[in-house]
Amino acid sequence: MPPDFSLPIPAAADQAKSLALIAHLRAASRGGTLSFADYMHTVLYHPQWGYYGSGQVQFGAGGDFVTAPERSPLFTAGLVYEWQQAQAAGLGGDVLELGAGSGQLALDFLQECQQRHCVPDRYLILEISPALRARQQQRLRAALPAALFARLGWLDSIEQLMPNAPTTQPCFAGGMLIANEVLDAMPVTRFCWRPGQINTVQEQRVVCAGARFTWASAKASDALSDTLRFYADRWPQESLPDAPVFAEINETLPNWLASLYDALSRAAGATWLYFFDYGGTSAEVYRPDRIDGTLRCHYRHLAHDDPFVYPGLQDITTWVDFEHTARLAAAAGFNVDGERSQAAWLLGTDVPDQFTQLMRTAPNRAASARIAQGFKELVMPTEMGERFRVLRLRVEPA
Ligand SMILES: C[S@@+](CC[C@H](N)C(=O)[O-])C[C@H]1O[C@@H](n2cnc3c(N)ncnc32)[C@H](O)[C@@H]1O
Repeated sequence: MPPDFSLPIPAAADQAKSLALIAHLRAASRGGTLSFADYMHTVLYHPQWGYYGSGQVQFGAGGDFVTAPERSPLFTAGLVYEWQQAQAAGLGGDVLELGAGSGQLALDFLQECQQRHCVPDRYLILEISPALRARQQQRLRAALPAALFARLGWLDSIEQLMPNAPTTQPCFAGGMLIANEVLDAMPVTRFCWRPGQINTVQEQRVVCAGARFTWASAKASDALSDTLRFYADRWPQESLPDAPVFAEINETLPNWLASLYDALSRAAGATWLYFFDYGGTSAEVYRPDRIDGTLRCHYRHLAHDDPFVYPGLQDITTWVDFEHTARLAAAAGFNVDGERSQAAWLLGTDVPDQFTQLMRTAPNRAASARIAQGFKELVMPTEMGERFRVLRLRVEPA
C-alpha cells in the first residue's frame, strides 16, 4: 500500500520481491509480534530479499542516497593522509574496511596509495551482504591492476579476523579500520518513554495488520531497561513533553564492540579506527522534543519515516549516539581519542592543500566546478560538514 505522500511506485519485479519478504516476515512472526531489530535486520540483510543482503541498494546519484566517498574522492584522500600518519607511527600494515558498499572508497584508497607510494600490505573488506561482496569484487577486479587487486581480501564476520579462524584470508595484522555509514545501518530497538525515566519505557514491536506491518507496544524487557540506564534522569522534569516520545537504541552495540576489540587486540600491530556517521551527543540524539526518534528511510532520494513501506526496497537508518558509542568502546577496551565533525576532521588533514592543487590543475571549468562542489558538500555545515561526525578509537596488541 503506498504511503500518504507520493513515493515512486516500484517496478513489478521489485514489488514481487517485497511481497515475498512480507510473506517471510509474516511467517516468522507466527501470528504474534517481531522485535523491530529483527524486522530491520531481515528487511535490510536477508540474503534473498533484503535491501543490502540481496543487493537491491543502489549507491550514488541514481540510487537511494549518496555517501561521502561517492560525493568526492577528497573524502578518501583524507583517509589516505591518516593512513600515512598511521604508517609513520609504526602501526600494522593492513587496512580493514567495514561495509564497503559500492567499493568506491576501496578503489579510491588503493589508487591514491599507489600514487603516494604507501600501498597497504592488505586491504580487507568485512561485508555482511553476499550480493555487495560480489559487486565489490567485480568492480574492483575490473578497475584495479592485478597487483593491486591481489592485496584485497573479503571477510563476512568479525570472527574471521581472529588468528587461526577457518578462512582463506591471512588474519589482520593491524593498521587502520574504516567504517563509513555502517553504525547507522545496524538494527535498533524502538521504544517510547518519558525521556530519561526508565520506569516509563515501553518497547515498540512490529505486528502484521492485514497487508501491512505496524507498531505494537509491549512491556520493556529488563535488558532494554538496563541498556537505557545510561540515560536515566538526564532531563529536568519540567522540560519534558506531556506525551511519551519515541526513540531507538542499538542493543547489540556493546557485544559487537567487544568482539571487534577482541579480534583487533590479537593483531600483531596497533590499529586506529575511524567511524564516520550522522549523529551527535546523547543529549542531541535523545532531545525530549524529538518526539519521533531519528529513524529515517530512504527510497530513491526521498526521505521519510515509515519503515513499513516497501520492505526490502528501501534503506532504514538511525542516528548514531557518539557519546554512548565512545563510552561503550572504552568499556570494551578501546582507547577513545574523541569525536569531531567531518569538516573539522577533513580540514585537519592535507585535503585543503590537495583541493587547491586540484583546482589549479583542473583541465577545464566543468572539472573545477565538480571538484569545488564535491569539497563543499563534504565540509559545508549545511551539507555533510557538521551533521556527519567521526569517532576515532585506538587498540594496541594485547
Ligand atoms: C549505508 S551503507 C555504506 C556503504 C559505504 N561504506 C559507503 O560509505 O558508501 C552500509 C554498509 O554497511 C554494511 N554493513 C552493515 N552492517 C554491517 C556489519 N555489522 N559489518 C560489516 N558491514 C556491515 C552494509 O552491507 C553496507 O555495505
